[in-house]
Amino acid sequence: MDYQAVLDEVAATVAPQVGRGQAAGYIPALAAVDLGGFGMAVADVDGSVTGVGDWEVPFSVQSISKTFSLALVLAQDGESLWRRVGREPSGTPFNSLVQLEYENGIPRNPFINAGALVVTDRLQSLTGDAGTAMLEFLRTQSDNTAVAFDPAVASSESEHGDRNAALAHFMASYGNLDNPVPTVLEHYFWQCSISMSCRDLALAGSFLARHGVGSDGSRLLPAREAKRINAVMLTCGTYDAAGDFAYRVGLPGKSGVGGGILAVVPGRCTLCVWSPGLDLRGNSVAGVAALDAFTSLTGWSVF
Ligand code: DON
Repeated sequence: MDYQAVLDEVAATVAPQVGRGQAAGYIPALAAVDLGGFGMAVADVDGSVTGVGDWEVPFSVQSISKTFSLALVLAQDGESLWRRVGREPSGTPFNSLVQLEYENGIPRNPFINAGALVVTDRLQSLTGDAGTAMLEFLRTQSDNTAVAFDPAVASSESEHGDRNAALAHFMASYGNLDNPVPTVLEHYFWQCSISMSCRDLALAGSFLARHGVGSDGSRLLPAREAKRINAVMLTCGTYDAAGDFAYRVGLPGKSGVGGGILAVVPGRCTLCVWSPGLDLRGNSVAGVAALDAFTSLTGWSVF
């Protein structure tokens, strides 16, 4: 596959969509971002990385971090997590509270905010420092020591974090958090604030295309766990747009309100695209369009 030719064509195809949508206004530090950025990278299972546009420009990973916290917990703890969080699509926005009371404080899946808070809580119990555990993992897998927290983004989200605090306290009332709510929120905000480029994220997510083997060649997860994470990405990774994302793109994907989307072609490559204009469900407008174009051009989807 001539990745450069494909990426160049994808970039030309989606150029009219770059700048559409809106930045994540509920986190003021993200609201100020220039909407004109676009980058995309492909990490082949052979370890090579190809990119187009702003593919080496760092952006806020936000909810893409939930993929890695889930992987770290499943790697260290196996399947016991699923007693505390489900794996069904929610059909509701990523920060919705409405199902939690009906479902006794058990979030629908690990990618909505409620579920991700439970995963971070477990990672905190397992490591004693969930934020740093994730940062070290991402630095190693992206082979980039410049990957870092963004303190301005973390504190901006913390100052405007009433919705996540409500979710966390509500789950604590059902006994579904082991650590104090402020500790869980702090580590969750740190993990979301991490700054990485498309290049970094495509490499860091390589284990999902390599059946659990990381970009450094070490086995991070059994193959069946990589398969399961990809399955949850496909069904839940873009929230109440997961059906439309599967229809258009046909790949496991995980979005973030920083405008990034990580996507996986199992056995072939991991993709990351970034463009900060979001649709109403919090997914990058040009990012979804670029992945749609990529799978249309290559014929590579899981379907
Ligand atoms: O907790 C939040 O609301 C953000 N830190 C992350 C949300 C997010 O990225 C949703 N993804 N599209």
